[in-house]
Amino acid sequence: MIKAEHIFKSFNNGITEVLKDISLNISDGDFVVILGASGSGKSTLMNVLSGLEQADKGKITVNEQELTTLNDKQLTEFRKNNIGFVFQQYYLLPHLNVESNIKLGADLVKNHNYAEIIESLGLTDKIKKHPSELSGGEQQRVCIARALAKKPSVLFLDEPTGALDEATGRDVLDYIIKEKERHGFTMIMVTHNQNIAETAHTVIKMNSGKIVEIHTNNKQKTAREIGW
Ligand SMILES: Nc1ncnc2c1ncn2[C@@H]1O[C@H](COP(=O)(O)OP(=O)(O)O)[C@@H](O)[C@H]1O
Ligand SMILES: [Mg+2]
Repeated sequence: MIKAEHIFKSFNNGITEVLKDISLNISDGDFVVILGASGSGKSTLMNVLSGLEQADKGKITVNEQELTTLNDKQLTEFRKNNIGFVFQQYYLLPHLNVESNIKLGADLVKNHNYAEIIESLGLTDKIKKHPSELSGGEQQRVCIARALAKKPSVLFLDEPTGALDEATGRDVLDYIIKEKERHGFTMIMVTHNQNIAETAHTVIKMNSGKIVEIHTNNKQKTAREIGW
């Protein structure tokens, strides 16, 4: 369970108000899309919900832990044990091969069974390659595998298909949704693409730092069924 109560966050000593009184509840195992135009505060909301940054005001509780009371060291420990991250940029270590990049995630929680994740992301024949030898879609699949190798209870993705062309983007989204179904973690994906929101169960729509609508899709579309 993720609970945010009256969250405020600003930058530049309060001049740039980004999150303005955000409250929400996310159930365990839900697939949530945070949808909104560029600049609406989606990434900032993701960063405070996941413990990457502290909110200025309000209360955030994730898996019974009140993030807003934790110091930096405690927040790092919380993220290590609970959260997986996938960003638009890949942030893979260029000097390490695919297997070693994924092992970095696994080692954080001493998971020895990450071969299965490599396999399900279709990376088995790429494990000895370096990131520079992979396509964008393959690199993003390595990032997803690295995040899942940590066995997170919550996976956050910030525009994970934002740097990919349509065919590759659909492909990667399909992998993401299938992994969510297989493992059952809570998944929160940030996007500005309304079509992608149709794949989620819960859609949280943001505008100018506020939540303007929350709805659930009766039928969730697949990555192949949506427009792009
Ligand atoms: N670290 C920061 N310092 C100053 N301004 C920021 C910072 N992060 C975000 N902002 C500003 O906050 C607003 C929302 O940003 P962001 O959360 O990244 O929106 P989105 O992800 O929806 O595009 C933007 O106007 C952005 O310039
Ligand atoms: Mg963003």
